[in-house]
Amino acid sequence: MIDLPFPWAHLSYKEYNHWVLRYQSMTNTPMHILLGITGSIAAYKAPELIRLLRQAGHEVKVVLTRAGKEFVTPLTLQAVCGEAVFEHLLDPTAEASMNHIHLARWADCLLIAPASAHFIAKLTHGFADDLLSTLCLAAQAPLFLAPAMNQAMWSHPATQENVRILVSRGVRFIGPDEGIQACGESGYGRMTEPANIVSHLVLPPPFLRNQRILITAGPTQEAIDPVRYLSNRSSGKMGYALAQVASAAGAHVTLISGPTALSVPAACRCIHVKTAAQMQQAVEHELAQHTVFISAAAVSDYYLPQPETQKIKKQSQLNLSLEKTPDILGLACQRKNRPFCVGFAAETQDLVANAQKKLKDKQADLIIANDVSQTHIGFESDDNAVTIVSSTEAIVIPSAPKIKIAEEILHRVATYLT
Ligand code: PMT
Repeated sequence: MIDLPFPWAHLSYKEYNHWVLRYQSMTNTPMHILLGITGSIAAYKAPELIRLLRQAGHEVKVVLTRAGKEFVTPLTLQAVCGEAVFEHLLDPTAEASMNHIHLARWADCLLIAPASAHFIAKLTHGFADDLLSTLCLAAQAPLFLAPAMNQAMWSHPATQENVRILVSRGVRFIGPDEGIQACGESGYGRMTEPANIVSHLVLPPPFLRNQRILITAGPTQEAIDPVRYLSNRSSGKMGYALAQVASAAGAHVTLISGPTALSVPAACRCIHVKTAAQMQQAVEHELAQHTVFISAAAVSDYYLPQPETQKIKKQSQLNLSLEKTPDILGLACQRKNRPFCVGFAAETQDLVANAQKKLKDKQADLIIANDVSQTHIGFESDDNAVTIVSSTEAIVIPSAPKIKIAEEILHRVATYLT
């Protein structure tokens, strides 16, 4: 079962506290909080939560689902919130004063507390059949969930899988806690106390505000004939994680992506390409508008200049005459007035020595070395472990989810930017 005592499941308690303190010290500003209340007995704690959020200086607007209304009345919520509660997607009065897109843009963050098992499932599958689920799709602000449900429902594989998917999309979980539940059973599933939710509700500092970050991700595909191509095992997860974190940290992000099965992170502009030549062209076109270039793509090193126009028939031996693809990162580094350039090094041995050589050969500012001979990190996996190599040092970041690795890399990059 996914152990989620803190919003970022992948951080240890110590690491988490470190991040919270770092964020809190930098972001002690009141926020616009859109509070969603779904159907759970823990909804009775919502008025207290609103009171504490307002006491902390935040502005709160409340969206109540139909099931949530069974547990707490709009009148109670309105009394503590100081303004009308939003309930319906197709409500002419509410839409006239603040339509749902406007409401989504107003929010600095979305907090769903309590978040029921049903609502978590809806969110996972992108349903938009009521105001709250529609807002969750329309909003580009960080989303926090404080789950509340029976312990068996929380530990059910369906819920756990939904939670895993949402965490991988950057949704932050606050709780649930362990203890006696309203139904009399005991275990994980209690909504964490309102005071705890308020103290965990911190946003990453906009440490990349005003930066324009260009990121390549995923593999490239080089045609051999109409049905076959040369490619590699890159899933795009590392590059997309970098795009997601950079965007959450305030940067304008352009993602140039080879073919992947991933969804483009919120608020990122994406240029889809297939071949190394197309990726090179897109980078060439975009580079001057960006302050940072991160080359996380696994670009094919070779291509077939003249792929067959008809499917090649099976034969006992096939000889392909391959040529080298353009060195996209190397060319970017040679440009005048170039952005800060970060490359990756996919290595199977002598990690740091090979990365140092790539740093020098390509004239990059940083090289992120990862060992791609291991199955639990590198290609395709959700985790990675990297060494950030500069001309003066090599910083080891131990194995962690790619989102966390991306945070570490980008914090490092930020220290070089003026
Ligand atoms: O996508 P995932 O499944 O999440 O896996 C992540 C990853 C392992 C692909 C990623 O972390 C990674 O290491 N990306 C770079 C892979 C690679 O091509 O490494 P390389 O050592 O062959 O290339 C060195 C650098 O030159 C890289 O920044 C690469 O993007 C760049 N390059 C390579 C060849 C080429 N023709 N042009 C380039 O710009």
